[in-house]
Amino acid sequence: MERSEAAGGWVPMCQRVLPAHANHRGELSAGQLLKWMDATACLAAEKHAGVSCVTASMDDIQFEEAARVGQVITIKAKVNRAFKTSMEVGINVTVQDILTNVEKIVSVAYATYVVKPVGAEKIELEPVKLLSAEDHLEHALATERKRIRLGYQEVFQNLMQESNKDGDYYDTFEEEDAISADLTHVQSIELVQPPHANHHGNTFGGQIMAWMETVANISASRLCHSYPILKSVNMFKFWGPSVVGDRLVFNAVVNNTFQNSVEVGVRVEAYNCEEWIKNQARHINSAFLIFNSVNDKGELLTFPKIRPVTKDGVRRYHGAIARKRIRLARKYMLSATEDKPYDLWEKSNQAYMSYSNIATLTYLAAKTGWKVTSTLNNIKIWTHEDGDVLSLKVEMQVKTASHVAFSLLSDFTYRQQWDKHFFEPYIVAVKSVTLTSVPPSSEHCRSEILCAGFQIYSDSSSSCRVYYFNQMTSTLMPYLAANLTGSLNSIEDTALKCIKFLELKGSSAEVNRVVKRV
Ligand code: COA
Ligand code: ADP
Repeated sequence: MERSEAAGGWVPMCQRVLPAHANHRGELSAGQLLKWMDATACLAAEKHAGVSCVTASMDDIQFEEAARVGQVITIKAKVNRAFKTSMEVGINVTVQDILTNVEKIVSVAYATYVVKPVGAEKIELEPVKLLSAEDHLEHALATERKRIRLGYQEVFQNLMQESNKDGDYYDTFEEEDAISADLTHVQSIELVQPPHANHHGNTFGGQIMAWMETVANISASRLCHSYPILKSVNMFKFWGPSVVGDRLVFNAVVNNTFQNSVEVGVRVEAYNCEEWIKNQARHINSAFLIFNSVNDKGELLTFPKIRPVTKDGVRRYHGAIARKRIRLARKYMLSATEDKPYDLWEKSNQAYMSYSNIATLTYLAAKTGWKVTSTLNNIKIWTHEDGDVLSLKVEMQVKTASHVAFSLLSDFTYRQQWDKHFFEPYIVAVKSVTLTSVPPSSEHCRSEILCAGFQIYSDSSSSCRVYYFNQMTSTLMPYLAANLTGSLNSIEDTALKCIKFLELKGSSAEVNRVVKRV
């Protein structure tokens, strides 16, 4: 018997676009598409998990092509990687014209689903079976995307603080033709009913997204006085669950405009009957949607400038700029190819990479569950296991002032003096990335360093504790296992050399002079 595609891990959904799914232009409404995408992806997650799952978050979604009434939409979803309780699901959407047989890509998206078993039992997910080279690539890339996903909020806050520091935060908005943001405010309410929820009563994430799209679309149309088309949705998270019987309140307003596009923000809050009376809202979700608009000839319209009228409005105006920067950096970083490489030298990319690295290291350091595996005088080695990801922490007591240690460790030209594993005398980021341009191959063992770096704490004016972190995927485990079981002791050797280097260099008059000047 021929194997069906579903057996290869894909869960397929096929839908004909009917007038009831379409907008006034006869094109499939984005809200309806988001509902189908979420339903297919949720089924793929549940097929792997074997229990019910809920939508935790959706990465940036871009819509490349519109689908018209009569055309056929095919959605395919597959779990790319199972972590501990969450899974990344890849979603491919194509549209096929039945008359011409032409098929086009509408969107490629990634969403995260978390297991939600009915009882109190704890579930740890099984790893995904990788059958093809593409499965292997997506599996590797999933870790990179998870890293970016979880560090998003911190990266965003850093960019906002930077724009605040640059002094452009409280610009006066005196453009003559600028339109007051207040005019685009839309509020709407929905009651969650059984058809909007799964069989456990949890509201479908896609249903909430569809309601959000409707409200955001109305808000954008108040600015452009035409019919907006959803182009992309910024990465967002479902902060908490909603269930049948909840009243969902949607508030939307235009945050900023960029020549041919507009960003509309929507906040969703839920109330059950009791909370409704007490006015106790539960924050469910906040999303940022980007719309275009075209004239009769299909040409892009220019959006008027917006004038925020409240302090929150000004903050959101700048928030929209920061989100645009992140969206672009993220898009180019994850889609870099040999002929279109990710430009590390571009200033906004550098800022993004470095905020993202620091956010990941801070997140890793703060994790609970670190276990001491070896202690040797002034060196302690800790490990942390999380699914197939192993992290290492090396604690070193060093008789050198913390600011001197910081200066010496941040200068990577020194690294070879104490670390024989380190071949590159000049390095930009302490992290290896699996990119589409350098896929895993059978000839080379490619292992991933997910995150690495140092944290330095001062103990006194002349001593400090240096923590070295290294988070890696399973391919590096045999090397590490040999170290941790004592058959190899290169971690201790390297740490000893690092301490010696810091103490020797740190006491040299030349370095102290340099550090003082800095
Ligand atoms: N994006 C992707 N995954 C995320 C995430 C995000 N923004 N935030 C947390 N997660 C993942 C974590 O990585 C973790 O995965 P792992 O176990 O595989 O490592 C998992 O979610 C649980 O994380 P934890 O920190 O224990 O939980 P949390 O308190 O952050 O809760 C949710 C996460 C998703 C369970 C919780 O916010 C929730 O219930 N949201 C509502 C989901 C829902 O009902 N959606 C339907 C529409 S209302
Ligand atoms: P932030 O204000 O940091 O953007 P929120 O979660 O409060 O985050 O809101 C998300 C978006 O929802 C806002 O950027 C804004 O566009 C919209 N929004 C929030 N509250 C309101 C409101 N009361 N009225 C209109 N729009 C709102």
